Amino acid sequence: MKLRKTRHPLDKQSREKSVDLLNDFLVLAIDLRLQVKQAHWNVRGPNFISLHELFDRLAGELEETIDELAERVTALGGRALGTASRIASKTELDDLPKKATWGPELLALIADRYASVGECAGLAIERAQETDDEVTADLFIKTAHGLDRALWFLEATLESEPVEEQAAPAPESGTAGSEASA
Ligand SMILES: [Fe+2]
Repeated sequence: MKLRKTRHPLDKQSREKSVDLLNDFLVLAIDLRLQVKQAHWNVRGPNFISLHELFDRLAGELEETIDELAERVTALGGRALGTASRIASKTELDDLPKKATWGPELLALIADRYASVGECAGLAIERAQETDDEVTADLFIKTAHGLDRALWFLEATLESEPVEEQAAPAPESGTAGSEASA
């Protein structure tokens, strides 16, 4: 993307790379927010109120994240791109199935999408660091932290019974490390 003139101290090439990186990530973040909002509107089931409110809270957090990412684009001299047609043509997230309304099903579907976007945030951190744009990298770290936290909320809400801990790797040979956690 062609950047406008700015006094920003970061070199133009790094800014261009960061602007593209941020605009690409915006697509995912905006799509995720729209899907979370759809879950907020349509969720049904015994825990309706808590799920309805959880999805709204997560959508609100994403809205703030989106705003920060978009404003980083403009701070670097770029143009933030977040129209519906762009999101629809570029998103890599699976669309939320229209029929999904049952609480646990929606929680799992939304958690899957948070995990995908979280993975992309991790890659974005690396790429921003490669272009020496530490501030953008820091913003992606903050974003990744928020996504991780939301995923924790979703998975903790999804659990309906205690889940077995994953077995730790066996220590030294000869020690008893395989007692089942019944
Ligand atoms: Fe609402």
